[in-house]
Amino acid sequence: MDIIIKDLCKSYGENKILRNLNAVIEKGRITCLMGPSGEGKTTLLNILMGFEKADSGSTENIPHNKAAVFQENRLCESFSAFTNIKIANDSLSDETIKAHLEQVGLGDAAGQKVCTLSGGQKRRVALVRAVLAEKDILFLDEPFKGLDEDTKTAVTEYLLQNTADTTVVMVTHDIDEASSLGAKVMYLKDGQIL
Ligand SMILES: Nc1ncnc2c1ncn2[C@@H]1O[C@H](COP(=O)(O)OP(=O)(O)OP(=O)(O)O)[C@@H](O)[C@H]1O
Ligand SMILES: [Mg+2]
Repeated sequence: MDIIIKDLCKSYGENKILRNLNAVIEKGRITCLMGPSGEGKTTLLNILMGFEKADSGSTENIPHNKAAVFQENRLCESFSAFTNIKIANDSLSDETIKAHLEQVGLGDAAGQKVCTLSGGQKRRVALVRAVLAEKDILFLDEPFKGLDEDTKTAVTEYLLQNTADTTVVMVTHDIDEASSLGAKVMYLKDGQIL
């Protein structure tokens, strides 16, 4: 079922972030959430993920099993790329994890401690971890941050291949990313979806 967001309001003190926001997020497809910095995109994701509580309004039909790439990576820095993915889903075979890391250009970095990886390499580890988690919905907050154009193309292809029929809610500032993913675009401005 589609996710229904009704009259959602959220303030931080006097700062009204979401103002009677209404939206429908379609099941089984990619929705890109766009909009200026500081308008509340991450806040909306945090409410949908259950990490923040709205002041009023409702959300319906959000799947229980969620996976996410947060705006920050939230990786275990002293563990390898491989181990970060394995501990998030220990039913995965070693071969699967290695194959996915290869697909995003990290075949040689699988055994490397995350603290020794570049920003863009860490971002890809966080993405593979979320894609390979057990989930019915995937939240991605600027997942391509720090990636060069060629890597972005490879990672877009990776996402398309591995998220078919998954509900994905992705924050991006780049309309080209949204188009190459064939996503539905929602624009957040003045606390509402335009
Ligand atoms: N925990 C918090 N306490 C107080 N204010 C907060 C908190 N979290 C976010 N805000 C404020 O809410 C507003 C929206 O923040 P949010 O992170 O949702 O924006 P965003 O659209 O994701 O921006 P960006 O594109 O820069 O990531 C900002 O003004 C921010 O300062
Ligand atoms: Mg944000």
